[in-house]
Amino acid sequence: MSREAKLEKLAAKREEVLLGGGQKKIDKQHEAGKMTARERIEALLDDGSFVELDQFVIHRGTYFGMDKVKAPGEGVVTGYGTVDGRLVYVFSQDFTVLGGSLGEMHAQKICKVMDLAVKVGAPCIGINDSGGARIQEGVDALTGYGEIFKRNTHASGVIPQISVIMGPCAGGAVYSPALTDFIFMVDKSYMFITGPQVIKSVTGEDVTQEVLGGARTHNTKSGNAHFYAASEQECIDQIKTLLSYLPANNLEGAPVYDCADPAERQDEVLKDIVPDNPNQAYDMKEVIAAIADDHVFFEVQKDWAANIITGYIRLNGMSVGVIANQPKVMAGCLDINCSDKAGRFIRFCDAMGIPMVTFVDTPGYLPGVAQEHGGIIRHGAKLLYAYSEASVPLMTVITRKAYGGAYLAMCAKALGADAVIAWPTAQIAVMGAQGAANIVFRKDIDAAEDPAKMRQQKIDEYEEEFSNPYCAAARGMVDIVCEPEQTRFYLIRSLESLLTKKESRPGKKHGNLPV
Ligand code: HXC
Repeated sequence: MSREAKLEKLAAKREEVLLGGGQKKIDKQHEAGKMTARERIEALLDDGSFVELDQFVIHRGTYFGMDKVKAPGEGVVTGYGTVDGRLVYVFSQDFTVLGGSLGEMHAQKICKVMDLAVKVGAPCIGINDSGGARIQEGVDALTGYGEIFKRNTHASGVIPQISVIMGPCAGGAVYSPALTDFIFMVDKSYMFITGPQVIKSVTGEDVTQEVLGGARTHNTKSGNAHFYAASEQECIDQIKTLLSYLPANNLEGAPVYDCADPAERQDEVLKDIVPDNPNQAYDMKEVIAAIADDHVFFEVQKDWAANIITGYIRLNGMSVGVIANQPKVMAGCLDINCSDKAGRFIRFCDAMGIPMVTFVDTPGYLPGVAQEHGGIIRHGAKLLYAYSEASVPLMTVITRKAYGGAYLAMCAKALGADAVIAWPTAQIAVMGAQGAANIVFRKDIDAAEDPAKMRQQKIDEYEEEFSNPYCAAARGMVDIVCEPEQTRFYLIRSLESLLTKKESRPGKKHGNLPV
């Protein structure tokens, strides 16, 4: 064969791969409002930066006539490129080829980019659009998933792993996303262990795909997903924003951006954001935005367990994870779901070396039989574990209520906070004045001529004595009491002073997080 003919052969083979399952299937994908696997990669990566690997991998299936079936690219496009100039590894399942189903060689392509991502220390982004295990390949397909799950687990805490659901993701296939750090879901995509038909035959329940495992469901009900997007392009923009807050791996810091927002900026909004009435709510997101560089707060899991807020801000250009009670939702009480949400977020930030700031205004753990029987003891412990284990700079801002166990669970000094800042409106105590007065002064109240008057008097006394930041400050449990509008300044100074923080823990294989 001449050199020219060899080049022609390469071009022809490449063309076949680029066409995936063929124009008809591509058109069908577009008609469904979906991009193809390659278009998604193009939209995600910087122009011209994608380097594709394993274009010519082919399957080895023979059962059910598979020896005669061609699967260009093996149903998954893999390689690397850059996002905003930073290296990422990527795989994107191609639904036009055998429904993006995962066989032995498809899995091998994915494993190769995962291995490379870990070796070089760069994020790995997986775009899922697949009918699941390739049925014709049987145990080889299942083994492929196993290899991926193992790698997901080993890569956890080493590089950021991002899963993007842009089509079906069913059965055991959902466990690769579940093992990664963030799941993005686009409208009309779905994830479930068993689909509507199986559920109908086993339990008799009637449910649609959308209701069972759609993007909204996982972003609001199950808490499995972290981001919802109405369109694929919106989803890709969200991924890029998230990446801007993250380091490439656990040994490098997150990128630091130029910041034109002065550290000394005092936001007027903060002056009277905490209402005089202790039972009146306010929006903690306003507090976070007022303190953040340029008022920008990028929220994670915003539609689930909204009584706690998680997300990222920058302080003087530096990436910081935020965990905050939300007084507007369930008065900011801690419950099972919010402990799971915050616990996992904290562990990701700590693993990736991202400093954290915790905003506290919580009356305590949510009382109730459902919470107790649901395991609030075990779930709530995750929050304590995650903070106690963390060794990154930890800053805490107490705006109002910090009562009892919840005071500790929201990154109190005793759990490891390096800088605790309290506002004059802070109330750091075992419980609120009403409850405390009823217990501690019950005898005085019962014996009084006017019990109601006596109760109020005791409540006032308790408030005067304990509902403030000064008892905690007197013990050194609060480092700085400041005017609310000075919080940004003190947080930035605290963060700068803590950047070289080093803390060691006893040597061990690994801890045993209460899962
Ligand atoms: C082989 C598959 C496939 C699969 C789809 N295809 N899923 N081929 N193995 N798992 C093929 C179809 O035969 C079809 O091929 C093409 O992909 C497109 O599929 P359609 O059914 O035409 O598409 P659509 O109508 O959009 O429906 C998509 C779908 C459906 C809902 C995903 O295909 C489906 O239900 N697939 C099976 C899902 C499933 O049960 N997977 C196993 C899950 S268990 P042609 O040639 O006609 O174009 C699992 C275990 C993992 O994944 C375990 C890990 C531990």
